[in-house]
Amino acid sequence: MSRAAVLCGLGAWVPPTVVDNDQLARDLDTSDEWIRTRTGIARRRVAGPGLSTSDLAVEAGRRALESARRTAADDDASRSQVDLVVLATSTPDQPCPATAPQVAHRLGLGTVAAFDVAAVCTGFIYALATAASMIVAGCARSALVIGADTFSTILDPADRTTRAIFGDGAGAVVLRAGEDTEPGALLAFDLHSDGAGHELITVPGGGARERALRTDDEADWNRYFTMQGRAVFTEAVVHMSDSVRAVLDRIGWHSTRLDRLVAHQANLRILRAVGGQLDLEDKQVVTNLDEVGNTVAASIPLALADAAAEGNLRPGHRVALTGFGGGVTWGSAALTWPSLDVRPGTPATDGAPLIHRTDDKENLS
Ligand code: COA
Repeated sequence: MSRAAVLCGLGAWVPPTVVDNDQLARDLDTSDEWIRTRTGIARRRVAGPGLSTSDLAVEAGRRALESARRTAADDDASRSQVDLVVLATSTPDQPCPATAPQVAHRLGLGTVAAFDVAAVCTGFIYALATAASMIVAGCARSALVIGADTFSTILDPADRTTRAIFGDGAGAVVLRAGEDTEPGALLAFDLHSDGAGHELITVPGGGARERALRTDDEADWNRYFTMQGRAVFTEAVVHMSDSVRAVLDRIGWHSTRLDRLVAHQANLRILRAVGGQLDLEDKQVVTNLDEVGNTVAASIPLALADAAAEGNLRPGHRVALTGFGGGVTWGSAALTWPSLDVRPGTPATDGAPLIHRTDDKENLS
């Protein structure tokens, strides 16, 4: 038995504004049929004016802390008192400073350690590994790990490829110190990068290399997200499959012993291909991208929250998490699913009440 970080709370939040494929096809040379067939996405959520990444992160963080409080059998209030906040995002509120301290402050967490991690779509796995390692090392007793992105703010309005894929959202987990024999213990990680591929997924302008020129002419610098879709597709399948095998090897699980794979929700064809590489049936590969698209760092915790709330992730399930993203970066984690009290991160769009109905901003607490 050894010290481990244990998952004890989970929550997610997506903004209420829904943009479906037909709406995109009104502005762009695309169609509902193309997007559904090539990506599996039907609609996505978009942060309306006035909503930024920190707003989404606060909502998801609050829900994860409430989940930890509800889950704790002994009503142990300390379960919702974290001493570390790690925010995975590639769309921080500003380039400087990090967004995590503001999120911690707005959640009323006091002067806890708080910082951002940028690994694009692998961000949540990197943040999870960082927080879990700090707990195991004794630097923190419990942590709130959030993945939040508002890619709608950096997409080229004229780019049909990226606008079809990405959506905005946030998801979060609470980790506490425990033992590796407990359900929810994070048993192993596998993390990698290959900077040779840094141009496959990039926002060229606005950083130290291609500086934002302080003029009103946006043509002076390239602030929009760009992606080489084909190359990303191939690399994502290879690296996520290999990484899941590596993390399972580390704990002596074969992929046939896996109950659920929760992979970064990039594209349904990517998810199916990774599942196929690991000999998993389609029903073992968790998907929610039809409703939310690719929500970048939020994608894995948002898929976890939706699957747990639907009962598709059950206590005792052997689960692998895996992601691939810009950098390029990739990584995986493995755990046995614990008993958690979780509400869905993605409210239904079929007439059921949304969490918030009117103006996005005024409903935030
Ligand atoms: N609607 C209609 N046509 C579109 C389109 C859209 N929304 N997006 C791209 N196309 C077009 C392309 O312009 C291209 O046209 P052309 O042949 O005239 O040049 C054609 O479809 C085929 O493009 P291609 O890139 O080869 O298609 P694809 O089958 O690879 O699908 C992606 C494109 C982007 C959906 C796919 O490559 C993908 O999902 N990649 C991974 C993206 C990802 O996950 N990124 C996040 C990082 S983890």
